[in-house]
Amino acid sequence: MKMWAGRFKKETDERVNSFNSSLPFDCRMYRHDIRGSVAHATMLCKQNIISKEDCEKIINGLNEILIDIEEGLLTFDNGAEDIHMFIEEELTKRIGDAGKRLHTARSRNDQVALDVRLYLEEETKTVIEMVKELIETLCDKAEENYNVIMPGYTHLQRAQPITMGHHLMAYVQMLMRDKERLGEVLERIKVVPLGSCALAGTTYPIDRQLVKELLEFNSVCENSLDGVSDRDFCIELASSLSILMMHLSRLSEEIILWCSWEFKFIELDDSFSTGSSIMPQKKNPDITELIRGKTGRVYGDLNTLLTMMKGLPLAYNKDMQEDKEAIFDAVDTVKECIETFIPMLDTMRTIPENMRRAAAKGFINATDLADYLTKKGVPFRDAYKISGTLVAWCIDNDTVLENVPLEEFKKYSDIFEEDVYDAISLETCVNTRTSEGGPSPDSVLKQIKSVREKLS
Ligand code: ARG
Repeated sequence: MKMWAGRFKKETDERVNSFNSSLPFDCRMYRHDIRGSVAHATMLCKQNIISKEDCEKIINGLNEILIDIEEGLLTFDNGAEDIHMFIEEELTKRIGDAGKRLHTARSRNDQVALDVRLYLEEETKTVIEMVKELIETLCDKAEENYNVIMPGYTHLQRAQPITMGHHLMAYVQMLMRDKERLGEVLERIKVVPLGSCALAGTTYPIDRQLVKELLEFNSVCENSLDGVSDRDFCIELASSLSILMMHLSRLSEEIILWCSWEFKFIELDDSFSTGSSIMPQKKNPDITELIRGKTGRVYGDLNTLLTMMKGLPLAYNKDMQEDKEAIFDAVDTVKECIETFIPMLDTMRTIPENMRRAAAKGFINATDLADYLTKKGVPFRDAYKISGTLVAWCIDNDTVLENVPLEEFKKYSDIFEEDVYDAISLETCVNTRTSEGGPSPDSVLKQIKSVREKLS
C-alpha cells in the first residue's frame, strides 16, 4: 500500500513502480538521510513540535536502522520508492506512531536536497584529499628530476630546453587550482535546504538555524523555492571535476607519448602496465588511456546535469531525480582514476639519458644562440635571422649547433667567439633560465618548496 493511497483509487502499475524508484541508486545515501532526520527530529523536539518521548524513539530507531544496514541485517528490498521512504517506512514499522511524526514540517523535496548535499560534502572532502596526495606524489617526482634536461615542446615540436621537474610542476599548478576550486564548491554545498519543505516553507515554528548548527553547515538557503530546486552545487562540482579530469587526461596523454619507443622518456612499472593477447612484445599504458577515455564520461555527467536543469519550472520536478546517477558517477570516476594514477606515477621510472638525447637534437638552443648575439649588441631580429640561417646550414650538413666550427659561425657574424659553445650548451641554456617560474633546477626547487608550504 502506497503512502499516498488515500487520494488514489487504484494501485500503482508494477512498471511505474520500478520506473519511478530511485532506491537502487540513492540507497548509498542512507547514512546522510539518517543524519538529516536526526537533526530534523532534534529541532522539532526543541521547538515543541514533537514530544521528547517521540524524539527519543525516533533517534534510537534511526540509529538502530543505521546499525542494521551497516551490518547487512537490513537490505534495500522493501519496494520503497526511494531511500527516504525506505527509512521512514522501516522506522514506522519499528516504532509505530512516533515514526509517522518524523516527516512533520518536511518534504522529500527539501529532504533529498539535503541528503545530496551531505553526501557530496563528504565526497568532495575525500576528492580534495586525493588531489592533495597526487600533488605530493608529483612534487616528489619533480624533485627527483629537478635537473633532468628534456626538450620543451610547442606544437609537439621541440622548442626550448626545460627540465623534467619543471614539466611535472606545471601539472602541480593545475592540480593546485583544482584543489582550490573544489574547496570553494564545498563551501556552497554546505547550505541547508531543509525547512523549504515542499516548496513554500511551513506554518510550524521551525528553527532552521538550529538545523544548520547541528549539521555544521555554513548557512540556510534564503528562498524556499530555490532551496528545493537548486542543483547548482551538483553542476559546480561536476564542472570542477571535469576540469580536474581534463588535467589528468593531458598528463595521461603525455605519459602515453613518453613511454612509446619514439620517445622512451619514461618506463611504467610492470605492475601498472598491461600486455597484448597476441603481440608478445607489447607493454601498454592502459591506465592512462582509460583516464583519457573516462574524462569524456565525466564531461557527459556535467552535460546530463546542465541539460536536465535547463527547462525546469520552479520548484521541484521529478526530472531532478536524475541528478544522482550523474553526480555519483562523476565522483566515483574521478576517485577511481586518482587512486590508480598515484601509484602508477609513484612507480614510474624516468630515463634521463633519453630525454637528454632528445634535447640534443632539434635545435632547441637556437633561441639561446640568438640571445648570445643579442647580449653582445646585435638587435634581436638580426640575431634571430643569423641563428635561423645557421640552423638551416646544420640541417644541410647533418649536424647540430654545438658542433658548428667557429670559422663557420664567423661567416655569419664576426661577433661569434669561442664562448659561444658554452652559451649554447644545454646545461647553460637550462641553468640560466632563472626567471621567476622558469625551468632552471633552482627555480624548480623553489616551486616545489612553495607548493609544499601551501599544502602544509
Ligand atoms: N527520489 C526523489 C529524488 O531523488 C525524492 C524526491 C521526491 N519528491 C517528490 N515529490 N516526488 O528526487
